[in-house]
Amino acid sequence: MSRPFHLLHVVGARPQFIKLFAVQQALARHPPGAIASRVLHTGQHYDHELSRVFFEDLGLPAPDDHLDIGSASHGRQTGMMLERIEQVLLARRPDVVVVYGDTNSTLAGGLAAVKLHIPVAHVEAGLRSRNTAMPEEINRVLVDHLSTWLFCPSPAAAANLAAEGLGSGRPAGSPERGHPAVVVSGDVMCDAVSHAAALAAERRAPAGATDRYGVLTIHRAETAGDPARLAEVAAFVNRMAGDLDIVFPAHPRTRAALDAHRIRLGDRVRVVAPLGYLDMIRLLTGATVVLTDSGGLQKEAYWLRVPCITLREETEWLETIESGWNVLYRDHPSDRPRSEDNGAYGDGRAADRVVSALVEQAATAPVGAGG
Ligand code: UD1
Repeated sequence: MSRPFHLLHVVGARPQFIKLFAVQQALARHPPGAIASRVLHTGQHYDHELSRVFFEDLGLPAPDDHLDIGSASHGRQTGMMLERIEQVLLARRPDVVVVYGDTNSTLAGGLAAVKLHIPVAHVEAGLRSRNTAMPEEINRVLVDHLSTWLFCPSPAAAANLAAEGLGSGRPAGSPERGHPAVVVSGDVMCDAVSHAAALAAERRAPAGATDRYGVLTIHRAETAGDPARLAEVAAFVNRMAGDLDIVFPAHPRTRAALDAHRIRLGDRVRVVAPLGYLDMIRLLTGATVVLTDSGGLQKEAYWLRVPCITLREETEWLETIESGWNVLYRDHPSDRPRSEDNGAYGDGRAADRVVSALVEQAATAPVGAGG
């Protein structure tokens, strides 16, 4: 009997568990036995609220390999992952490594694989903020340039890749030696959100949800890691909190930074522990506004039709701004009309396209990008 086609997914941070879920759902729709799928968790996120609750909420099986890497400086964290992921890849010998988004786990997974000549599939390819001070921007660019398959959430993301010489002039979906395949699959988070919204509707509203409230999240290094910037963002939040209650599920790094720099949030800002995915979607569906530096939440707000104010200087998710549902905080308020159409990132079937492209290509042209 021939060996099944073997995918190995590398994940480590909370948004990646959601993306993995969407792809696993699509894999479950394929005939059993044809594809083997294993999950490696780097341990980048390790708190229950940032990791295990996502596996529980989404019914994901426990990872096959868990590296328990945890927090460290960027170099050390990424380096430790690289070494340990390589060991797993040598033992497991997958046909393709699938990496998600833009975290240090994404970079380490992609780099470990391509060095072993294992083709890499990057889900959420082609996003650019043009801000190289963000660790996520470095990760995105490097991973796109080492991948064999680039699955883009939107045509604009594919255009970013073409501008960097990736995929231009090549037939979509067919990697050739030295040239990646670019596929506009749509966003797998869109697939996940419709599933989550149905489940979340059955939940009680999380603590802090009053009659009229906003939701706040801050987690990025560019915000939480810069005291002056964090103070400025906090001042903006406090002005908004003059008008409404704000629920703030706080990332541990942000909570620590606020304490360390004695940055005060107003009385109407209620700080709570990080929420699991379904509780977050439940909180979001009842919110008047979302204030965030997260990429995932900007899109979830757009799909759930909740106005969003992005606490950054720029965003990768330009379509949400163009739609009128999102605005950068310096540009707030916006006078753009809000569009009825929220389909800029596909139709909720992105993961099926990812899986189909990988399975079809595996049958015909199993080649690595670097050759
Ligand atoms: C990471 C990603 C970011 C992604 C985000 C999702 C990188 C460079 N950044 O940022 O792209 O959007 O995850 O949440 O990979 N910490 C805990 N408990 C945890 C995890 C983190 O206390 O479970 C604290 C630690 O103090 C740590 C800090 O948070 O030093 C930052 O953690 P890190 O692993 O760098 O990831 P995030 O900031 O969450």
